[in-house]
Amino acid sequence: MRIYDIIVKKRKGLELSKEEIDFFVQGFTRGEIPDYQVSALLMAIFFNKMNKRETTDLTMSMVNSGDVIDLSSIKGVKVDKHSTGGVGDKTSICLTPLVASLGVPVSKMSGRGLGHTGGTIDKLESFKGFSVELTEDEFINNSNTIGIAITGQTGNIAPADKKLYALRDVTATVDNMSLIASSIMSKKIASGADAIVLDVKVGDGAFMKTPEDAKALAREMVDIGTSVGRKTIGVISDMDQPLGYAIGNALEVKEAIELLKGNGPEDLLELTLTLGSYMLICSNKVKTFEEGKTLLLENIRNGKGIEKLKEFVKAQGGDESLVDNTDNLPKAKYIEEVRATKSGVVTKINAEAFGLIAMELGAGRETKESDIDLAVGIVLNKKREDKVNEGDILAYIHSNDKSNIEKAKNSIIDNIIISKELNEKLPLIYDVVQ
Ligand code: URA
Repeated sequence: MRIYDIIVKKRKGLELSKEEIDFFVQGFTRGEIPDYQVSALLMAIFFNKMNKRETTDLTMSMVNSGDVIDLSSIKGVKVDKHSTGGVGDKTSICLTPLVASLGVPVSKMSGRGLGHTGGTIDKLESFKGFSVELTEDEFINNSNTIGIAITGQTGNIAPADKKLYALRDVTATVDNMSLIASSIMSKKIASGADAIVLDVKVGDGAFMKTPEDAKALAREMVDIGTSVGRKTIGVISDMDQPLGYAIGNALEVKEAIELLKGNGPEDLLELTLTLGSYMLICSNKVKTFEEGKTLLLENIRNGKGIEKLKEFVKAQGGDESLVDNTDNLPKAKYIEEVRATKSGVVTKINAEAFGLIAMELGAGRETKESDIDLAVGIVLNKKREDKVNEGDILAYIHSNDKSNIEKAKNSIIDNIIISKELNEKLPLIYDVVQ
């Protein structure tokens, strides 16, 4: 078999066999096939696509490129949750302890942020001392003793995805449905959970820009998960504006903590309850969505959710007193107001642009090697559908560098669209695929 012939085959739009897919994935992982040939193949896949069978074979080949974690020693049905990536998406930080507080083990592997999207692992580092690199033993032990463990993509989990993702990132081949589905599902399957709830984002801040594409991606991932015996549900949710009000690591952690204290923003609460209810259904804790929602709300009201967050932070070496004293989380030197230059109603907040503004303030990484500033970011004061008068505060910039404030201010004004009237209302939850 020759990689050259595989490239030609896909360039002609033909279907690749399982053996051909394995040949390229395993050869590339072992360093036997050079980047330039895999780049050419990725571009051919990007244009000519893969069918369902090819996508499943690609996923399983990536799973088999490394270790598969065995979580069978953790009692109960282990649930994982994964977002396809968004702006201001701090859901995992409030959702996972909330679900764990109901006795459902959450064993989750999370990523760091890249480009305009944030990552849970970076956000969790806002807790001083928090360890995001658990050994397999610690991961299993914490899941068993306190019912929750979150770790970065450590060790040898889907190494093919690590290499392929890095190459896709620099060859403009990220936003292809089969490549995204196989990338996400290979990591989820290899990290061992019995059930997976996927938050598939749609909108300008997401990889999938239309509800139809998001639904197709969700269908693809749910079918892959189901075909290997993992109960998988895909929730399609809005990313046409940032989620909640805060964008930036410690700022988002604070907002997630507030949610568990009963003061969360409406959209973040609705998404948390929706994903949480499906996690509870997957783990057989409840039969209906409404039942799940009631239990989750109860554990916000009675404080069990916030207590579980503290237990989780402490178990991973972090300073759990920050949950009570959020003022001690990393804080920026300058907080600058951004005011509206006209009156009307907010009809759009460009999510991707806000992700990039936060990144330029230092909250995100331009390259994998960049350092991030946990304290900086933006806190919105208005969201879509809010009325605004000229001079009202639209947002607050949190910065440690005076020189980048003016540019951020102008970008924020440009990217909060104020119109005379609201033309369309967008849902938060578009659809559920199972
Ligand atoms: N997240 C991933 O892990 N992989 C992708 O391809 C896209 C989002």
